Amino acid sequence: MDLKQSYHELYGYNGITEYRWNQLMDIMEKAKKTRPAALKRADGAGNDWYRSEKMVGMMLYLDRFSEDLSEFEKRIDYLAELGITYVHFMPLLKSREGNNDGGYAVSDYLMVDEKFGTMDQLERVIKLLKKKGIRTCIDFVLNHTAKEHIWAKECLKGNHDYDDMYFMFDDDTVPNEYEKTLTEIFPKVAPGNFTYYPELKKYVMTRFYEFQWDLNYGNPQVFNKIVEVLLALANRGVDIFRLDAIPYMWKELGTRCMNHPNVHKLLKMMYKIVQEVCPSVIFLGEAIVEPFEIVKYFGDRENKECNVMYNASFMVLLWNSLATRDVRLMGRSLSIDYGIPDDGIWINYARCHDDIGWGFETEILKDMGLDPEMHKQYIIRYMEGKFQGSFAKGELYEYNPVTNDARNCGTLASLCGLEQALNEKHMYKVELAVKRILLLHSVIISYTGIPLLYSGDEIGQLNDWSYKEFPQYAGDSRWLHRGKMDWAAAEKRTDLSTIEGQIFGKLKNMISIRKSNEYFSADHKAVPVDTGNDAVFGFHKADKMLVLANFSESEQWVDAKAFDWFGLPGEMKDLITGRPVRSYDNHIQLGPYEYLWLV
Ligand code: GLC
Repeated sequence: MDLKQSYHELYGYNGITEYRWNQLMDIMEKAKKTRPAALKRADGAGNDWYRSEKMVGMMLYLDRFSEDLSEFEKRIDYLAELGITYVHFMPLLKSREGNNDGGYAVSDYLMVDEKFGTMDQLERVIKLLKKKGIRTCIDFVLNHTAKEHIWAKECLKGNHDYDDMYFMFDDDTVPNEYEKTLTEIFPKVAPGNFTYYPELKKYVMTRFYEFQWDLNYGNPQVFNKIVEVLLALANRGVDIFRLDAIPYMWKELGTRCMNHPNVHKLLKMMYKIVQEVCPSVIFLGEAIVEPFEIVKYFGDRENKECNVMYNASFMVLLWNSLATRDVRLMGRSLSIDYGIPDDGIWINYARCHDDIGWGFETEILKDMGLDPEMHKQYIIRYMEGKFQGSFAKGELYEYNPVTNDARNCGTLASLCGLEQALNEKHMYKVELAVKRILLLHSVIISYTGIPLLYSGDEIGQLNDWSYKEFPQYAGDSRWLHRGKMDWAAAEKRTDLSTIEGQIFGKLKNMISIRKSNEYFSADHKAVPVDTGNDAVFGFHKADKMLVLANFSESEQWVDAKAFDWFGLPGEMKDLITGRPVRSYDNHIQLGPYEYLWLV
């Protein structure tokens, strides 16, 4: 791909774009020149490192995890102990005061938020992490800035260099036109897509919260400015940029302003620029959209976009399997070929900082004899804990009283039943909840892709109901699963008689097995198999390893003949426990929520 040609194809050929193009060249030159020698050496090895079986991530909010960067330094050993090899810092750049959507309203891309420390401290932390074999990922919020960002201020001051960096209108004619085709992202907490500011006498496009002003990528100046800050951050040593909310980057009247083809053009140019300036850096794309749209963000063989993408559907399917004790929807959905390119890698996760939205393959549900709407209602209630017999304890997110539609919130442990079991002081339920927590992790750690743990889940942290006492959080139930790291509980992580010890110890073991076995590298694709038992999920890798996972609390048998897999029946070894697993009369037995990594 020719960068110059792509730039001009997107922005046109005229004096202004010529000027902006030259400006972009200067930005890239300057970044190349100032790139530190150590990073340049790493660039020499390219960016293939992310395909290794050694990659295991943890995402965390700095303030929730360790207050700030200097305290974080003391916690690096904890991450290393678990076996983490990349850490994803949730937004840590300077964000606006008050509500800032957990830092997703950046007011200065070149500063670390004062409450966390300084940019120099971040650079130091990155180096310390690197010494422990841990790479750094930061959130890069590029669809919008805080309304307090200098670009917004300059624009309002009338500085023409900043004209049209946002979408501003004097009256509501154009906004109303846009609204005809736009959907709402936060219909309850932030309805509508425009905000009127009487003091400015302007309508501004605000697709997320009111204080998050959408950037106008139709203006090459926006692209240049974003590239400039991205390269500056890369030169501080960042390895992975989590590109936030990318489907929304390009807005065009009359469209949904989502997954627009020009978003792909922007990302291809950004990838190309990174390849030229800092080729060891990779992009992790956040696009929580339909799977066939997600895969497009990997780009194509010649022109890449993101190296890794979040596997949102997998996460949703895991919870669905747990609630229903039926893995058919998961097995069948994962078998669909959405056209993921060979070098595209998923981030597999069971929980993250956001809510869970129930996007299912409705055709498969119908084929299974289920009504997709009813099924969705069932899972929403189940995860909230309202469905009779549910083990989960969570909350609704963005509940719509008209349609009853909602998403769900809650920590992994609480959604797996630990909170309810502990409240009831029911020891067997506690045991089952711990098994569920481990089961979900066993699948994400063994499946093809990069496993990503959400901080706190490694010790089974419960929901934090206290968020309701803080006005800046109370309206957004995602804070239910964003509690502070409980370090006193983490102290118990080596004591196997505790819940923390059991979870941490077993996760650590699974991670270490993964890292020492090349079956887990990106080169070995997981292929779901029909185990003949609706409660047991199974997949194999290169016919060399078979993973079985029982999603029910009762014992299950799998007919070894039901799936054609080499070496069966016979004796296999479970990689996790090291014990031999025999098939009895051509059947393999699995205990409640048991998982086997068979070789
Ligand atoms: C992403 C983040 C989410 C945030 C939104 C707006 O979707 O994951 O937490 O609210 O972007 O930046």
